[in-house]
Amino acid sequence: MNFLSIKDITKKEVLDLFRRAEKFRNDQLTAYKINTLKMGGLLFFTPSTRTRVGFEAASWKLGYKTILLDETKPSVSEGWSESIADTIRTMNAYVDFYFIRHPNSAIFDQITPYTKYPVINCGNGNDEHPTQALIDAYAIWSKFGRLDNLTITIIGDLKYSRSVHSLILLLAKFSGNTVNEIAPDELVLERKYKEAFEKKNVLMRLEKTDLGKEQVLYSAGFPPVNPSGTFSQKIIRKYIITEINAKTLSEDCIILNPLPRIDEIAVAVDNLPQAHYFIQNEHGLYVRMAIVEAFCTNKA
Ligand code: CP
Repeated sequence: MNFLSIKDITKKEVLDLFRRAEKFRNDQLTAYKINTLKMGGLLFFTPSTRTRVGFEAASWKLGYKTILLDETKPSVSEGWSESIADTIRTMNAYVDFYFIRHPNSAIFDQITPYTKYPVINCGNGNDEHPTQALIDAYAIWSKFGRLDNLTITIIGDLKYSRSVHSLILLLAKFSGNTVNEIAPDELVLERKYKEAFEKKNVLMRLEKTDLGKEQVLYSAGFPPVNPSGTFSQKIIRKYIITEINAKTLSEDCIILNPLPRIDEIAVAVDNLPQAHYFIQNEHGLYVRMAIVEAFCTNKA
């Protein structure tokens, strides 16, 4: 079974994945038998640290080996490139499941006609990052014990953040949540991502000065390059979480960030009790193990 979008899984499957992740988190991770007959193919056509290394670590900890293909061949603009279809047809001979990141939002339309084995979407352009959304939602669920009736503020570039798109689609499966958007007018969420969410939840626009009522502050950051170009430091500075902003948050609030952090959260915030992003990343390993076990092995 492929996992290409958060829309591919139900609310029950989300919660089942979290329970699997809890099992791995509470486990000492020593009992897995090496199974080198099953190989995961990591096909990364754009850079990644957490997702690539995270799925590699998760696979190995479950006893599966991985092969990395990070595309280093000359590009079409340099006059030579293999088609993605031929790359996939070649890789089918070597691997049993795929982790794929690609800059093209529509890449899976080109890939899935050829893949013989499960495909996990590790980020398709600016569209979705469903495994990151599961990691983000797991951080919220493990802190508050639920994904309903929460107030979540999301700050930064929401239009082009694939992690935010997948998180909103995930929260759409739950109800009674209020999501506050803090973003420049041209970078708010697009209708296609928020339509389902708004059926059972509420979306509001806020300013940074309104911070204080949320249980979760999700910093999406500003990708250095996006389809509307780069943003001036003057605009970006308005959406940075500083120590002063963080001190206006409730004691119980958690600050999340998919990482990498560029400059959207001041380093001084790391020392505050609300800073949760490195714990979120640490627990991501268990969520990725749950994803590998559920989608890529026969232990679904
Ligand atoms: N959060 C995330 O996708 O990080 P990487 O780009 O390092 O994989």
